[in-house]
Amino acid sequence: MDRIVVEGGARLEGCVAASGSKNSTLALMAAALLAEGETVLERVPRVRDVHHMLELLRALGARAEWDAEDPTRLRIDAAELTNPEAPYELVRKMRASFMVMGPLLARCGTARVSEPGGCAIGVRPVDQHLKGLEALGGKIRLDHGVVEAAGAPLVGTRIAFDVVTVNGTQNVMAAATLARGETVLENAAREPEVIELAQVLCRMGAEIRGAGSDRIVIEGVRSLRGVTHRVAADRIEAGTLLTAGLITQGDVTVTDVQPEALEAVLDKLRETGAQLDVKSDSVRARAGERPAPIRVVTAPYPGFATDMQAQMMALLCVGTSSSVVTETVFENRFMHVPELVRMGADIALDGRSAHVRGVPRLLGAPVMATDLRASAGLLVAGLAADGETIVNRVYHIDRGYERIEEKLSSLGAVIRREG
Ligand code: EPZ
Repeated sequence: MDRIVVEGGARLEGCVAASGSKNSTLALMAAALLAEGETVLERVPRVRDVHHMLELLRALGARAEWDAEDPTRLRIDAAELTNPEAPYELVRKMRASFMVMGPLLARCGTARVSEPGGCAIGVRPVDQHLKGLEALGGKIRLDHGVVEAAGAPLVGTRIAFDVVTVNGTQNVMAAATLARGETVLENAAREPEVIELAQVLCRMGAEIRGAGSDRIVIEGVRSLRGVTHRVAADRIEAGTLLTAGLITQGDVTVTDVQPEALEAVLDKLRETGAQLDVKSDSVRARAGERPAPIRVVTAPYPGFATDMQAQMMALLCVGTSSSVVTETVFENRFMHVPELVRMGADIALDGRSAHVRGVPRLLGAPVMATDLRASAGLLVAGLAADGETIVNRVYHIDRGYERIEEKLSSLGAVIRREG
């Protein structure tokens, strides 16, 4: 089982380009099922989650291939969907697989997708996805762990989500593009990944207004066509790389990004005393001392991204005083805390808040990755720790970061992967 070994202490500096967004890619791959033709996605990150979604699209009967010339170009042809059933062995590997439900129901009039189940960070139910699809006319049945939906044609309606859900908004919005009449989504997620999906769906022929606000209006159309789209930068990878630079009191520039998608994170990095130079497609972050203490509260966009919580906490572990990090989106997203404490961090948990008392130095140690972003936080901590940090179960990191050790090494980190 692979692991990553970091020798802490090197000051990171230089430029690195962000990869395409893993989360945008997954939603766009699912939405490609709506098109009666080929969709081409460019700047696709070659990460485990994308490979799992590729397997799933093929199992559904779509043709999905990496381009022969460009290793980050993905060709998906959903003209023929011979098998609208997403099997458990594929869905259990990646819960975002559930996003094929809406497109399958809208396109084929039927869908069977295994209930994704929870994961390390929480129960993560899909009740809001099902509420939306049922409201559109899908007859939902739970059949021994498989969610079955049937109903054609779907009919537009008003849906008010009880909680803000990113994939729920994307799933139902996608289904509504082929429903008869108008659908209004209230309390919709506002994430950049929702906006990007709506933009691509519109280029495919859909009629969507209001994406990026909490009220999205979709006018159903008869069919959608394939398009070519360059995936936006991975804003969470960009934030992770900037935090990695700052914890080493370095000077790192991340290029080919959309800074506006990271505003809340950049604001918090400024509050720690980091010097940021923000241009239209790049962010440079410098620090000459340990971070000042701050208060971080995660929230749906445009709030501070929950996917940056572990990485920010790692930075605050070497702060000059005490910070408080509050996780409001998921109920169990502090799995990195015991591992950071093993590295000498001084953190006390109190319900949804972590009280982080800054220490001058962390100490390298063997640590266990538990989920994608917790692993990233441990890597960030290891960069500034005394001695060697060994992050085990690196497959968690590989789910969402493309060649992370190569990118960090190009910035001066002393880091290697061991198989
Ligand atoms: C997306 O997950 C992202 N994943 C997550 O990133 C991210 O942490 C999350 O949004 C929040 O920003 C992808 O886009 C593939 P939610 P999603 O539905 O959509 C509750 C990463 O690290 N909820 O917005 O599944 C849920 O339990 C991953 O890249 C319901 O109660 O998250 C949670 O508490 C991790 N019922 C809250 O809403 C539902 O039907 C927000 O979850 C759906 C969600």
